Amino acid sequence: MGQLTPEAVTQGLQTRFVGHQVLYYPSIGSTNQLAKRLAVEGAPAGTTIVADEQTAGRGRMGRVWLAPPGTSLLLSVILRPTIAVGRLPQLLMASALATAGAVERSTGLSVLFKWPNDIMLRGRKAGGILIESGMRSEILDYAVVGIGLNVNFDVGESPDIAETATSLSKELGRPVDRLELVRNLLSLLEREHDSLEAGRSPHSRWAARLVGLGEVLEISTPWGEERGTMEGVDAEGSLILRRADGSIARITVGDVS
Ligand code: BTN
Repeated sequence: MGQLTPEAVTQGLQTRFVGHQVLYYPSIGSTNQLAKRLAVEGAPAGTTIVADEQTAGRGRMGRVWLAPPGTSLLLSVILRPTIAVGRLPQLLMASALATAGAVERSTGLSVLFKWPNDIMLRGRKAGGILIESGMRSEILDYAVVGIGLNVNFDVGESPDIAETATSLSKELGRPVDRLELVRNLLSLLEREHDSLEAGRSPHSRWAARLVGLGEVLEISTPWGEERGTMEGVDAEGSLILRRADGSIARITVGDVS
């Protein structure tokens, strides 16, 4: 199994810019946090930060992202797409598609998505994506795509998530090479980035992998609880719920319970 050193990651990588500069840390606070700092300091698009361990890994909505050292893919890629800020949900979809493609290429497992950002294998969460962005004069300056994927993580050892989470090795029944996975991911991420830049939307390809359609969901939003039947997710990334009274709720931020 290959180590995630910069030389190993970049060797034979056929991308135009993603992964041309790789920084590897055996242990770091959060790859996203460092990526944001480097992006503000002017790091080029494509700069990639990979770690074996995070001591302050961040998930959505201020949660912590936990992964035992050396068991996961923990990486952040700095992008500088020239897209309107309103298309950031599409960057999230594009990043999820790149992650799914990489997992499928490396393992043959089928990947689905749970709104808004979960990577699912056989009904359990195997990873998540956290995009953090910065603006300059009302224009998108950078977007950091942070990806956490449970690769060789024995989730059964973590009681808090043992029931709801899984990992690639658990589903496959054998360890997975993180190096091959990260190379596949970087090249597919560049392809998705280019497609976005060309004005194409990843929405229909992303929505084809969505779980939960037609199910009754309870969603916690910053404005309160919502309950209804999931009708889909629109091209702007909002969850569409039909409430019991027939009205429609479009939810931009929230958690499916
Ligand atoms: C989620 O809440 O599902 C998103 C989790 C994203 C975790 C990744 S791990 C690499 C990068 N660095 C972080 O601190 N978070 C993201």
